[in-house]
Amino acid sequence: MTPTNSLATAPPLATPATNQDFLADVIAGLSKRARSLPCKYFYDARGSELFQKICELPEYYLTRAELQILDRYAGEMAKAVGPRISLIGLGTGAGTKTRLLLEQLQRPIAYIPVDISTEQLQRSTKLFRKIFPALEILPVCADYLEPVKLPSPSRKPGRKVVYFPGSTIGNFEPQSAGEFLRRIAKHVGIGGGLLIGVDLEKDRDVLERAYNDSAGMTAQFNLNLLARANRELGADFDLTQWRHEAVYNSAQGRIEIYLVSEIDQTVHLSGQAFDFAAGEKIITEYSYKHTLEGFTKLAATAGFEFAQMWTDDARLFGVFYFTVL
Ligand code: TRP
Repeated sequence: MTPTNSLATAPPLATPATNQDFLADVIAGLSKRARSLPCKYFYDARGSELFQKICELPEYYLTRAELQILDRYAGEMAKAVGPRISLIGLGTGAGTKTRLLLEQLQRPIAYIPVDISTEQLQRSTKLFRKIFPALEILPVCADYLEPVKLPSPSRKPGRKVVYFPGSTIGNFEPQSAGEFLRRIAKHVGIGGGLLIGVDLEKDRDVLERAYNDSAGMTAQFNLNLLARANRELGADFDLTQWRHEAVYNSAQGRIEIYLVSEIDQTVHLSGQAFDFAAGEKIITEYSYKHTLEGFTKLAATAGFEFAQMWTDDARLFGVFYFTVL
């Protein structure tokens, strides 16, 4: 049998961020008074591998809770999104959760995974083509934060549904989260849907443990950003003089993830010198935690109407379904 998706060996439609972008973003982030580095650069081959390990840590409840929800309710989700959809996956990585969903979908038309990690995209596409030979799979290697032109499936879908798992929406500040959701709403159009994983507000202790695991995997993951700048940009970050820190800011409802300079030091990059004082911090990521009401309101500002939320036994995590009216 000829698989309908033999096209899929075609090159991806867009290329992920180049070293030029990385260099420009690192310089821009380090040149500000409140230093920052963009979190999208966490996911090179090494970073993706480390993140996979984070997902398996006892303290990192997010992935397990989300998987439990999919395991239990993927059938209900499939019913909610309806038959003959085109599913657009944003940052679906290894595809473990998406697989559970795809297995339940009724006669899906196409699956379009958009991911910044080439390795993961290739691996999951190969696997999914084997498991779902009749499904048209159109992988796109791209940074979905930038406007990306997505390929059209060869058959017309009943509706477009964006699947955005992993609570990555929590890594946006509320205003950008609203803008991003608005772009999704525009893309799926009237009648379209959004299935989105959201980490829910909870006790500080549980949150801080999730981002400060005892095996030190999160620290390695965070520090890999500096290691990557050394590898790819020829920077000279001394990894022994930086430490990982993650604290919950309850007023803002977010975990703040930093790299903290242990000493006064100067880092060189592309002919420029960046001075850091002992204790000075680089923010690498925010991870906002939402309530059902709060997130529903945020999505409403982007034109989404709340349809349903599925959660785990401990109400740690929510998978929300919204539609565009
Ligand atoms: N987006 C994930 C989250 O907010 C990523 C993540 C987990 C992460 N642990 C981290 C990012 C540590 C930076 C540092 O949960």
